[in-house]
Amino acid sequence: MSERFHDIAVTVNGEEVRERVDARKTLVDFLREDLGLTGSHVGCEHGVCGACTVRVDGVVVRGCLMLAVQCAGASVDTIEGVTDSGEIADLQRAFIERNALQCGYCTPGMLLTAQELLKRGGIPSREAIRTHLSGNYCRCTGYQAIVDAVEAVATARHSSSFRGAGETREPGIHNRGTGSTDSGPGPSGRPGTTADKTA
Ligand code: FES
Ligand code: FES
Repeated sequence: MSERFHDIAVTVNGEEVRERVDARKTLVDFLREDLGLTGSHVGCEHGVCGACTVRVDGVVVRGCLMLAVQCAGASVDTIEGVTDSGEIADLQRAFIERNALQCGYCTPGMLLTAQELLKRGGIPSREAIRTHLSGNYCRCTGYQAIVDAVEAVATARHSSSFRGAGETREPGIHNRGTGSTDSGPGPSGRPGTTADKTA
């Protein structure tokens, strides 16, 4: 019979952690219950809502679909870690300025998922932003303000990267409509999503 408990070493937000975990414990439960990192939330518990989003070895994953034992030897980043490092400070500011959150339950997952897209660089279209966030559900805000915030940060980061490189900015990019309306369809293949709610 296989062992029920396992000793694992995992790096969480840059610090090595050694814990004994139940083989059946999910990553998000491990983070919340064993490490007290309650910024990652539990919603649907079957991979649909994105509330439990964290990064494992730099890749965004569902914390409810991964077991803690599977993270042995891995590096995990939670919303607490990226907040402390300042990695997403501009994105968090943009969410606040644009009222892109209400209860905040979806917000940690939303931020980490948006950051995954933003790290690719450039200015994604609103459609690309909506598609990328389509696995993260928000029950409160409506998605317009969230897309606005992500688009604004993409534009600002792109602009500062041009300034940093000492290059001239492309005409037109600066004025992409952060307040524009989305007339296109919501995320495809996501039955039941509320992505087309208006803010
Ligand atoms: S709680 Fe993990 S996707 Fe909903
Ligand atoms: S702000 Fe409440 S679920 Fe998104």
